[in-house]
This record gives sequence, C-alpha cells and structure tokens, in this order.
Amino acid sequence: MGTYVVTGAASGMGRATADRLRADGHEVIGVDLAGAEVSADLSTPGGRAACVAEVLDLCDGSLDGAVAAAGLGGVPGRDRLIMAVNMLGVCEVLEALQPALARAGSAKVVVVSSNSTTLTPLVPAALVRALLARDLDRAMRVLRIFGKRSAPFAYAGSKLAVARWVRRTAVRDDWAGAGIRLNAIAPGIVQTPLLDEQIAAGEKDAVEGLPVPVRRRGTAGEMAEWITFLLSPAADFLCGAVVFVDGGTDAYFRPDDWPASSGPAGVSNYLRRTRAWRASRARDHSLA
Ligand code: NAI
Repeated sequence: MGTYVVTGAASGMGRATADRLRADGHEVIGVDLAGAEVSADLSTPGGRAACVAEVLDLCDGSLDGAVAAAGLGGVPGRDRLIMAVNMLGVCEVLEALQPALARAGSAKVVVVSSNSTTLTPLVPAALVRALLARDLDRAMRVLRIFGKRSAPFAYAGSKLAVARWVRRTAVRDDWAGAGIRLNAIAPGIVQTPLLDEQIAAGEKDAVEGLPVPVRRRGTAGEMAEWITFLLSPAADFLCGAVVFVDGGTDAYFRPDDWPASSGPAGVSNYLRRTRAWRASRARDHSLA
C-alpha cells in the first residue's frame, strides 16, 4: 500500500480521490484550506512552503504519488487568485515534492487541468508564457485587454499553462528518468461545488448549453476512477499525457484538430530534439 498526497482533498474530485485511495487501503495526506490533514493556502509562497514541509514530514520523505486537484473556477473578481492556485499551487508544490516522489521509485502524479484549455477561444499566448514564467504581474497585465470579462481567460490560461508544464516536465530526466510518471486529466463539466459556484455566478446558460455528446454532467466519483487508474501500475508507460474526460465535448468541437502532423516546422524540431536525446543518452552511457 502506498502513501499519496492529494490537494483539494476537502471537496469535489480531490475528496472523491482521497476517499477512493483510502478505501483501497492507501495512506492519504490531504491538503486543503481547511478540513484536511494539512491546512495550507496554495495561493501564497508561504502557504506552499508550509504545505511541502508538512507533507514531507508526514510521508517521511517518500511519496508513491500525488494528485493536484486544488483549484478555483473562473468566477469574476479573483483572476490573480485563480492563476496563483491553478498554476503555481500545482507546479511549485510538485517540484518541491519531486525528491520524495523520486525516492519511491515508480511514483505517479496526476494534475487536474480542464477541457477549457481547448474550448476557450482567444486565450493569449502571452498569458500562457507569463504563467509558465511564474510571473503573475505580467499575466495580470495581459488580462487587461479583456476588461471585466477576464475571468474565463484567467481560468483557461491557468489550465493551459499547467497542462504545458505537465508535458514539459514529465519527459525530463529528473521526472521520467527518475521513474516518476506525470500526467494530467482534462475534465469537462463535472458536478461539484466548483460548478455550483460557476452557475451561481451567472454561468447557468453557458453550462447548460455546452454540448456534451454523452448528454450528462460527469461526477466527482468518475473523475476519481480515472485519477486512481493514472496512479496505478497501468500508467507505467503513460508520460506527459493530457487525458480528456469530458463526455466528448472536446471531440465534438475539434474532431480533426488532433492528432495532427506538425508540418514543415516539425522537421527541424524533430531533428533537433532527436539529436539532443541521443547526446544525453550518450552522456548517460559514458557516466555508467
Ligand atoms: P471543488 O471546489 O469541489 O474542490 C476544489 C478544492 O480546492 C476545494 O476544496 C478548495 O478549498 C480547494 N482550494 C481552493 N483554493 C485553494 C487554496 N488557495 N489552497 C488550498 N486549497 C484550495 O472543485 P472541483 O470541481 O472538485 O475541482 C477540482 C479541480 O478540477 C480544480 O482544479 C478545477 O479547476 C478542475 N476542474 C473542474 C471542473 C468542474 O466542472 N467541476 C471541470 C474541469 C476542471
């Protein structure tokens, strides 16, 4: 049986995942603002540092897995907070826990992104770049172009940035090469308190009118099933994936967008990345 940290463990998908892991006999260190083993505010550097210190203490420096489910929905008036929790509250905590994850030998990590990554049009590339650079001031400046309608872009931008962080980080030597499997799920509309808050904030028509080919909302329990599957040995060969679990909404809107050939620009990227890969394997070999 393993030891897992789950952020956002007091509600919704995080809670359902923590319950499911405990029912399977695992030890779970839940993290949330309140109502979990570790109380921490993941929107601040101090809160993230306190969270990491307490988790490392409770797990004795070794973790079999982590789930980053803490997050805020795109409700107006809190753009900075949304981006702080949804991006920095994920990547900075997981990076600080990397040594404990590597110590376990075959740890699995699941980040909860969102299908807003592909459904929200016109998210500025500059916003995603600012978030990947962990620069919230710059991200807030980019959002100014949207005026009072910025919340969905803050949300989708944070979920795009965190998904990109997953794909960039998952393949690195200190993650994939250290036995850690880092992947993301991208849920669609899931019935949780976060969704209730969105609806109460005036998004009822948008939520109810969104095409969902399976004709219903998802449940937190269903997401927990996917997350625990991605934490299991079944995910040993899965690395840097963003799995859309959204009742078909992404496929409905973009059936032909992905998978797609990279075109002419892909040729130089392919050659450059392959050369870099071979050089680093040759270095490994010479060190062995
Ligand atoms: P939820 O609101 O039920 O749970 C989120 C948890 O995160 C809450 O317990 C909350 O206290 C915690 N949290 C928020 N700010 C925090 C902070 N500063 N520090 C520590 N914990 C904090 O929401 P739900 O729906 O379970 O969301 C889980 C994840 O799924 C989130 O990242 C959300 O963005 C994402 N998601 C949700 C969808 C939905 O339709 N419900 C769709 C796509 C993605």
